Amino acid sequence: MALRLGDDAPNFTAETTEGTIDFYDWKGDSWAVLFSHPKDFTPVCTTELGRVAALKPEFDKRNVKVIGLSVDGVSDHEGWAQDIEDVTGARLNFPLIADPDKKVSTLYDMIHPAASETTTVRSVFVIGPDNKIKLTLTYPASTGRNFDELLRVIDSLQLTAKHQVATPADWKQGEDVIIVPAVSDEEAKEKFPEGWDAKKPYLRLVKQPS
Ligand code: BEZ
Repeated sequence: MALRLGDDAPNFTAETTEGTIDFYDWKGDSWAVLFSHPKDFTPVCTTELGRVAALKPEFDKRNVKVIGLSVDGVSDHEGWAQDIEDVTGARLNFPLIADPDKKVSTLYDMIHPAASETTTVRSVFVIGPDNKIKLTLTYPASTGRNFDELLRVIDSLQLTAKHQVATPADWKQGEDVIIVPAVSDEEAKEKFPEGWDAKKPYLRLVKQPS
């Protein structure tokens, strides 16, 4: 069954390029991004893994651990890591799960048989410190993901987990946010004493809380 927002992210034990991990132990109380790749030694995946490796300091800054998955074995992953570095200049600096028996792929519903019986789609799960699923994305094998967008979404998830705000279309860190409709004007006066700009009674823009 598909995992939905708010569900517990299932725990698992798996072989990775950094040894055997218990997912919950590895993750601890950080945020995590678990993302799948259809197969080793494939072109789009090579560019994606290099990009995530280059962005690792940005994930670290947000207290987000990243972990990839591909259905091949650890020895293939290790050979592929060299190619990734050759092509992108970035060394794999996060664990890549080896899932030849498709245990984790099945647990997270990453195999969509109508797309491919044998390889995963490009799934992304953002998992919160409480081990609950905060965001899912599914891309087909032919379309590489935009990891700047993933960082943008994580900024929104972390902000909106902390404050009673939502983020508008195309929002970026530092831009105005929306006071959620569940907060009355009376409550908003306490939470946002500097005031807000009401475009409509239900659309109240306010400076991003720090
Ligand atoms: C790729 O990563 O380039 C890829 C993988 C499977 C199908 C198509 C492209």
